[in-house]
Amino acid sequence: MMNKLRTTDFRKMKEQGEKIAMITAYDATIAAIVDAAGVDVVLVGDSLGNVVQGLEDTLSVTLDEMIYHTKIVSRGVDRAHLCSDMPFLSYQKSPEDAIESAGRLLKEGRAESVKLEVNDAYIDTVYRIQKAGIPVVAHIGLCPQSVHVMGGYKVQGSLPGDRETLLDLAKSCEQAGAFMVLIESVLSEVARDVTESLGIPTVGIGSGVDCDGQVLVVNDMIGLTPEPLPKFVKKYAKVAETISDSAKKYVEEVKKGTFPSQEQSYG
Ligand code: KIV
Repeated sequence: MMNKLRTTDFRKMKEQGEKIAMITAYDATIAAIVDAAGVDVVLVGDSLGNVVQGLEDTLSVTLDEMIYHTKIVSRGVDRAHLCSDMPFLSYQKSPEDAIESAGRLLKEGRAESVKLEVNDAYIDTVYRIQKAGIPVVAHIGLCPQSVHVMGGYKVQGSLPGDRETLLDLAKSCEQAGAFMVLIESVLSEVARDVTESLGIPTVGIGSGVDCDGQVLVVNDMIGLTPEPLPKFVKKYAKVAETISDSAKKYVEEVKKGTFPSQEQSYG
């Protein structure tokens, strides 16, 4: 195992001003590619529901599905830290239930930490999971599992009092033992203030340049997700086009009988 990244390394990276690069993965093949490319954290996100399972939201993703995808991703990860999302209703019912779910992601999925969407009702849960020996990433700001309470996927931090609420929440997460805070779709200046107020690192998505790191959904980053994409996504490749062009050529050649040729045949 080459220079495996541990939870304790991320605080050092923040202190040294080295940005943290996190990306999602859902299978061993992509995990191995992004790991070898130098990503610091591979996240098995419950965005699994949107980008792999074809669902409208993340609410139907189950713990067993997250365990399965975490297990297969873990086989591709070598250097990066492996974090897995706790899906909807796998931690909300009670801290005991949360420890059980988080423990299964480590025991069966081989995750090295878990991420949960946190508001003030879940600080004790963060504390209890961490005290059970399971490192926690606290997800704040836009929390997709609360989409129906929030009235849609809206940028957070612009209402009076939002800045203070987010600062207090992030501080409570740090005090409860979270080793990292993920900030989703929060106004840049609020995410900056949160980042500056914490000793632990922040990783942002749609939350500006001042977070200690960034995270993107891999399908969005490689251009596999159908347009339109959210404003915060940068598309680094056009993989959907590559797959479509290849499939069109393949169909054409099969129909014409030019594939397979002698080159692809035995004997
Ligand atoms: O599920 C997910 O992919 C996430 C994003 C914030 C990256 O939580």
